[in-house]
Amino acid sequence: MSRMVIEGGNPLQGEISINGAKNAILPIMAASVLTGSECHIYRSPDISDVRVMGKILQQLGGRVCQASDENRITIQVESLATDRIDADLMRQMRSSVLLTGPLLVRGGSAQMTYPGGCAIGPRPVDMHLAGFEQMGARVDEQGGNIRITVPDGRLRGSDIHLEYPSVGATENIMMAACGARGTTRIYNPAREPEIDSLADFLRKLGANISGTGSSVITIEGAKLQGGTCYELIPDRIEAGTYILAVAAAGGQVRINQVCPEHLQAFLAKVRQMGVRINQAGEGVLEITSEGRLRAVDVLTLPYPGYPTDLQNQFMAVACTACGTSVITETVFENRFKVADEFRRMGARIRTEGRIAVVKGVKRLRGTTVRANQDLRGAASLVLAALGAEGQTNVQDIEPVDRGYTNLAGQLRKLGADVVRYD
Ligand code: UD1
Repeated sequence: MSRMVIEGGNPLQGEISINGAKNAILPIMAASVLTGSECHIYRSPDISDVRVMGKILQQLGGRVCQASDENRITIQVESLATDRIDADLMRQMRSSVLLTGPLLVRGGSAQMTYPGGCAIGPRPVDMHLAGFEQMGARVDEQGGNIRITVPDGRLRGSDIHLEYPSVGATENIMMAACGARGTTRIYNPAREPEIDSLADFLRKLGANISGTGSSVITIEGAKLQGGTCYELIPDRIEAGTYILAVAAAGGQVRINQVCPEHLQAFLAKVRQMGVRINQAGEGVLEITSEGRLRAVDVLTLPYPGYPTDLQNQFMAVACTACGTSVITETVFENRFKVADEFRRMGARIRTEGRIAVVKGVKRLRGTTVRANQDLRGAASLVLAALGAEGQTNVQDIEPVDRGYTNLAGQLRKLGADVVRYD
């Protein structure tokens, strides 16, 4: 059990650089199963989700090397040792489901358990599976195990309408379609920047994909054989978290290697709260925050709307804003768990279903809180603690390692009083 102890009240000063995006590298690592050649991925974040994905690739028969000096990961899956994704690793990371599309292309079958165990039921991956079925795959489920097979060896291109622009389903179907016979069109796909980034990577392997960012993505099936070098896009959620850290603690920070175009809905909200954000060169944002911020309402939506992955961190800041903020979460059903912990710190929050009403108080008080196995919730507790009076002890802090490279160290570099105990 690890914890972070934070003494609140230090304004943040200095500069930091953003790492490559977690939500870009995970599908790209999965996509490397599509080819037998070497793929080099640059600017890899040093996070546990990448390590878990690396382990799964090794179990599948791949070679995964990490060169820490260059933040480079090299992956080569010359041949598959198995089509089964280990149940324990599957449970640790929901996005391991992204390997099923590439496995179907490479070997004609894939086996997995439901991410998080069968209690969750079929809902979280139903769109992925329906897409594969439409492309000619057979899906058999038994006691929480799923086996997907392609009876005639190769998937066939198809017109697939997603009822919701799911990021994972769009990525999985895109990767499956790369190896399918004929043309696949995905209607109502997700438009997140990470979809574009996956398409760029797949094109480097020889895929023919168009329409990402629009309402239809078209993929012409082909045999992918090439290897490639690919540099990841910056992590917009990591950047947004540090921007909200400055909002929570006050101060002035320069954030390098960020892509403001990917953060427009978010930046508009943060500016409305009273945070000053200046572009100080290409990929550089200067963030200044002083005094109490204004309450602002937020509605999470698929991209280009306000990202759900920055909702908890926004709530941390809203806790001490002047006035009442209404936060509406439309992407995930159960993403307000962290509100209970904020209340322990003195926040005034009422939640009902997908809506949270946050009445700003002058200051939060440091106390002991728990991160509850939730990556963004854990980060938002750290943010709340930075602005709180006195000491906060965030217990079970490990989930931050899934998505942030050395969060405590980065914040210390900016002058925060943060110590981690493992
Ligand atoms: C990805 C991101 C995650 C982010 C989310 C939404 C990665 C590795 N993770 O997750 O950080 O929070 O997008 O921006 O990129 N759903 C179904 N059936 C499906 C698939 C999804 O009902 O087959 C539902 C989910 O339960 C959820 C919603 O659709 O309520 C959005 O999920 P989705 O866009 O698929 O998110 P992920 O790809 O899992």
